[in-house]
Amino acid sequence: MWDGSGGFRILKKERLTPVTNRFVIAAPWVARAAKPGQFVIVRVHEHGERIPVTIADFDAAAGTITVVIQEVGRTSKLFGGLQQGQEVRDLVGPLGEPFHAARPGAMVIGIGGGFGAAALYPVMRLLHQAGASTEAILGARSRDLLLLEQELSQVCRQVMPCTDDGSYGFKGLVTDRLKARLDELGDPQAVEVVAIGPMSMMRAVAALTAQYQVPTQVSLDPIMVDGTGMCGGCRVSVGGQVKFACVDGPMFDAHQVDFAELVRRNKMYRQEETQLNAAQA
Ligand SMILES: Cc1cc2nc3c(=O)[nH]c(=O)nc-3n(C[C@H](O)[C@H](O)[C@H](O)COP(=O)(O)OP(=O)(O)OC[C@H]3O[C@@H](n4cnc5c(N)ncnc54)[C@H](O)[C@@H]3O)c2cc1C
Ligand code: FES
Repeated sequence: MWDGSGGFRILKKERLTPVTNRFVIAAPWVARAAKPGQFVIVRVHEHGERIPVTIADFDAAAGTITVVIQEVGRTSKLFGGLQQGQEVRDLVGPLGEPFHAARPGAMVIGIGGGFGAAALYPVMRLLHQAGASTEAILGARSRDLLLLEQELSQVCRQVMPCTDDGSYGFKGLVTDRLKARLDELGDPQAVEVVAIGPMSMMRAVAALTAQYQVPTQVSLDPIMVDGTGMCGGCRVSVGGQVKFACVDGPMFDAHQVDFAELVRRNKMYRQEETQLNAAQA
């Protein structure tokens, strides 16, 4: 059994929800080069698989990066089980294209679902620091799963939480709240949207904002392996062109993304994953 020694040290671990932890990790080279929107590829232990994880925060002076891990399967659960003082084996990055700022003067509404709220934070902070007017809509099944409301409220003039069960904030989907907000604003064309979260959420946001002609960026999460544009695992179609999310993205114009193809490709290894998880349970 691997004991968590030999790699990038975890300086702080904090449980955010029953299935989500925030880790501050010593990674000075990555922290120095990181920009909002970028990610790292992590291998938890020597024989582990490589998983992409967004850089949720970085501190060049302290030499640290922050990641937020939602436990969904074998590797993310293994990561979630690491403790302060232990280490992740490999950490490569920063990878991907940084977030490209909004049109000057635009108001930006950030939408975060699941771990997406953590990935949204550095983007909204960048926009806030650049003087943009920022708001956020956060979605979760219930109150206890909602992430980073407090942090986002420091860089957004308004944070609108939504829960499926109505246990907190608006009862319903983030798209319902977004539609209401766009109608309230009256001039949706002065607005831009950045959505990060589950694929179904990003797809639904893209469909809604296309109706309002609101420019929208999404952070895609296709299967990634090498993170260098070599393996082809993260191939996506954007505006009819082949792109590799690890080097050309992960953020893309939502209205140009072929979501149907992406959903199909992400299901490619579902059977193998299920069998492996069952065998190792
Ligand atoms: C650019 C990017 C940034 C991400 N940032 C974060 C983050 O900040 N926090 C977080 O918790 N999760 C993040 N993810 C998702 C995370 O990588 C997957 O949840 C993780 O790989 C699942 O692995 P698993 O073994 O725990 O689960 P598995 O049971 O192996 O898989 C569960 C699901 O996760 C997806 N997945 C599995 N392997 C990969 C892979 N190599 N690449 C991409 N998706 C995969 C598949 O859709 C799969 O069905 C990000 C993904 C991408 C592409
Ligand atoms: S992860 Fe291999 S090409 Fe992008």
